[in-house]
Amino acid sequence: MAGSTRYIRYILLAFVTLVVIFFISSSSSTVDDRVKSATDLLKKQGSLFKGHSPSSDSTSPSPPKPPPRFHSDEEHDTSGQVLGNPPSLSEESPPEPMPSGHSNATSPNPSSQKLGTNKQPFTHNPVAPGERMNATFVTLARNSDVWEISRSIRQVEDRFNRNYGYDWVFLNDDEFDDTFKKVTTTLTSGRARYGKIGEDHWGFPSWIDQEKAATVREEMREKKIIYGDSISYRHMCRYESGFFFRHPLMMEYEYYWRVEPSIELFCDVSYDPFKYMAENNKKYSFVLSLYEYRETIPTLWDSVKNFTQSFPQHIAKDNALWWISEDEGKNYNNCHFWSNFEIGSLEWLRSDAYIDYFTHLDKDGGFFYERWGDAPVHSIAAALMLPKDEIHFFNDIAYYHVPFTHCPTGEQTRLDLKCHCDPSHNFDWNGYSCLARWYDMNDWEKPEGWQDEQ
Ligand SMILES: *[C@@H]1O[C@H](CO)[C@@H](O)[C@H](O)[C@H]1NC(C)=O
Ligand SMILES: *[C@@H]1O[C@H](CO)[C@@H](O)[C@H](O)[C@H]1NC(C)=O
Ligand SMILES: *[C@@H]1O[C@H](CO)[C@@H](O)[C@H](O)[C@H]1NC(C)=O
Repeated sequence: MAGSTRYIRYILLAFVTLVVIFFISSSSSTVDDRVKSATDLLKKQGSLFKGHSPSSDSTSPSPPKPPPRFHSDEEHDTSGQVLGNPPSLSEESPPEPMPSGHSNATSPNPSSQKLGTNKQPFTHNPVAPGERMNATFVTLARNSDVWEISRSIRQVEDRFNRNYGYDWVFLNDDEFDDTFKKVTTTLTSGRARYGKIGEDHWGFPSWIDQEKAATVREEMREKKIIYGDSISYRHMCRYESGFFFRHPLMMEYEYYWRVEPSIELFCDVSYDPFKYMAENNKKYSFVLSLYEYRETIPTLWDSVKNFTQSFPQHIAKDNALWWISEDEGKNYNNCHFWSNFEIGSLEWLRSDAYIDYFTHLDKDGGFFYERWGDAPVHSIAAALMLPKDEIHFFNDIAYYHVPFTHCPTGEQTRLDLKCHCDPSHNFDWNGYSCLARWYDMNDWEKPEGWQDEQ
C-alpha cells in the first residue's frame, strides 16, 4: 500500500515537472529541443519504474512467442524443421492444434526470403478445400502507398485470402522499391508479383493536344473539381479503363479482384467469390454504386452514343441500360459502380467489344480534355455490353473506401459473417446510391430493414 502511494507521488511529480519543462522550453527553444527534452524526461521516468512495468523493462526481454503458422506451402511443409527458433521455445509453448493434413512445424514464411518467385500458382492450398480459379488480386500503387496498401492486404488476407492463397499483382508506373516488395510479399499468402507499366500505357497518346489538355486542367483547378488539375490521376483513370487487364502479368489470369489502398473489409468472405463468378457466369460485380460528378464527364455519353452507332453488334440483349438512363439512352443518369472495388472477368475486358469501346472513347480524348473516371467507363460498358444478369451485386462483401461504406443489410448475415461494420453507416439505401434502382430494374424485393437505412 505504502509502495503504491509512493508511485502515485512519483507520477504526479513527473507530470508536474513535464508541464513545467514544456512551458519553459516552449518559450525559449525550438520544437526539436522541446521534443528531445520531453523524451529524455520520459526516459528518466521510465527508469523509476524499472522492473515493475513490463513495457519499460528493456534489459531482460522475454523471448517472443512464435506466431502459430497455418501457412502450409506444399513445397516447404515437408521438412518438419523448426527454423530460426531456439529449441527450448517449443517446449515452453506446446504446438497449437493443427487442422488435419497440415504440418505442425513452425517455419519461416518462404516468401519473405525470396521475393515472390517461389510459390506455385493453383497448387497452393492454405486451408479451404477445392480447386482454385485462374484469378488474382490486382493493385495499382506507388511506393509511397506501402503502408496504406498494407492495411488493405492485411484485411483481405484475414477475411478471405489466407484460406485461399490467390496471387497478388502489383502494378506501378515506376519500379517498386525493396521496402514495398518486402512488406507486401510478407503480407500476402499467395505469390506477390510486381509489374512495371510500360510507357505506351501510361502517358499522353499522340493524338492528344497538350495545350488544350493543359487549359482544361487549369479551368478545373479554378472550379475546384477534385483531381481536376492532376495529370497522374488522368493517366491512372485511363490505365484502369483500358490497360491494366492487358499487362503481361495480368494476361496470365482470367479473373481479377481490384484492391486499393486504405480499404476495409468488415465481414468474413465465407466462400470463393472468383468461383462464384465463374460458376454463375458473372463478368462484373460491385458493392457500392452512386452518381458520378457531372463536371468530370460532360461529353462521355455523347462519345458512348457514337460508339453504339458504330458498333451496334456489341450491345447486349437484356442489358442494364435502364439502370444508367431514364430516357432510354438519350441521357446518362450518372449512375455508376464504384470501381475501386471490382471482381470481374479479364476475358471480358479483353474481348473485342470492350477493346473497341475503350479505343473509341480514348480517341475522343475525354480522359485528358475532361476527367473521365474508370468507374463510369467500366460501368457504362458493363451496363450496355453485358446482359444484366452477368453483373453481380455482392451484398455479403462488406466494404469501405473513403467516404462510403457498404454494410450488408440484414442482421443475420452480419452475425453469420462476423461483421464489424456499423449498419447505420450503410450507404446502400441512401438517396445518392444507385442500388435501389438496381433492385428496381431487376424487380427484386428490397431486403428487410432497408427503409430504416435510407
Ligand atoms: C508433428 O509433431 C509430432 C509430434 O512431435 C511428430 O511426430 C510429427 O512428425 C510432426 N509432423 C510433422 C508433419 O512435422
Ligand atoms: C489462366 O488464364 C490465362 C489467360 O486466359 C491463360 O493464358 C492461362 O493458361 C490460364 N492458366 C491456367 C493454369 O489455366
Ligand atoms: C459524335 O458524333 C457526332 C457526329 O459525327 C460528332 O459531331 C460529335 O462530335 C461526336 N461526339 C463525340 C463526343 O465524339
